[in-house]
Amino acid sequence: MSLVALGVTGGIGAYKAVEVARGLQKAGHDVVAVMTQAATEFVGPLTFEAITRHRVIVGQFERGANADIEHIALASSIDLLLVAPATANIIGKFAAGIADDFLSSLYLATRAPVLLAPAMNTNMWEHEAVQRNLAVLATRGVKMVEPGEGFLACGWTGKGRLAEPDDIVVAAGRLLMPAQTLAGRRVIVSAGPTYEDIDPVRYVGNRSSGKMGFALAEECARRGACVTLVAGPTTVQPPGGVETFRVRTAAEMHEAVVSRARDADVVIMAAAVADYAPVRVSQKIAKDGDELVLRMARTPDILADLGRRRAAGELPKTLLVGFAAETSDVVARAKEKRRRKQADMIVANDVSRTDRGFDVDQNEVTLVTESGEEAVPLGSKADIARAIIERIEPLLARA
Ligand code: PMT
Repeated sequence: MSLVALGVTGGIGAYKAVEVARGLQKAGHDVVAVMTQAATEFVGPLTFEAITRHRVIVGQFERGANADIEHIALASSIDLLLVAPATANIIGKFAAGIADDFLSSLYLATRAPVLLAPAMNTNMWEHEAVQRNLAVLATRGVKMVEPGEGFLACGWTGKGRLAEPDDIVVAAGRLLMPAQTLAGRRVIVSAGPTYEDIDPVRYVGNRSSGKMGFALAEECARRGACVTLVAGPTTVQPPGGVETFRVRTAAEMHEAVVSRARDADVVIMAAAVADYAPVRVSQKIAKDGDELVLRMARTPDILADLGRRRAAGELPKTLLVGFAAETSDVVARAKEKRRRKQADMIVANDVSRTDRGFDVDQNEVTLVTESGEEAVPLGSKADIARAIIERIEPLLARA
């Protein structure tokens, strides 16, 4: 049973936090409610006390049942800090590191994952200050359940309504540690694009954001694996808790992955590696004429090289998983790639769609293995990563 600290702050959505508490309990979690003073204007602490069967913490200096410093004691025993609703005020305090009440002190003191379900007026939600604070929190790994759109309690219509309690409970469940099914396993994940230099100032790249690979690395780490992430140039930050090596080119990624593969139980190649690199010139190419013809040469095919090395007995224990980014005949091409590159699994994605695949938060894939194909419906990249790992685990057990 996991222990969730449910932070409730002063917004009209506070009454929905009662349903969130119930949902968490139904999912088998123990809940301790922590209310700000403002939240008590909307819902009485007694309501949460009756549901959670724990004393509700409101004041920083209330005397507990023992002499522990209460926010420190709670901080080290919770598995998740969930704040629903999270007002602009608490988001600002978390971002700035202000600890002037129990909840904001708990945020600083805990090392548990943190999930926010913001709720506020549309203009407040859209305000640059709030968005900047959320961006700061995201870089620290704080997760968020986006507010919904619609008619708000303040009479406005727009984005800012607290997400549905069921959705908040599902998001919380994802952050609570899953079974450590990959404990003791070493996983290498590649992510992002490669940049291939044309001359000292120009390069050829692609639209990969790194998000798919990062989601995979994060999911493997959550399941207890020792993860090495080899990432091309991305603006998105890699997840915490994984060892990350930054590379730029296909040749550098080849060296980084192949040199570590011998110790790996799994290599997952989610990176969009350039197939060709310009034959580089040392001086900046000057403008000359209407056309520019570039000479390109093949880059090393990392996945195919790993497949060859394994066939030659160099990587006896390494499971190989690749991706196929296709715009037509997606599954047929993925099958062909699996055979040609001697991989155990190819994750096929249709990159002709703008709402999934490259540079967005969602994907839809088909897992192609020796035993057949399995469609994974459209979902967040975290959902897709989970489905991929759940398919990899039995293959690993067999290997
Ligand atoms: O990064 P995101 O914005 O989240 O987008 C995710 C993604 C679309 C990039 C990802 O889901 C994906 O499809 N990655 C693989 C893209 C690709 O390069 O596909 P491919 O069909 O060209 O390559 C097939 C496989 O061989 C891939 O596993 C690739 O990593 C690998 N490869 C390719 C070329 C090369 N020189 N070496 C390789 O190892």
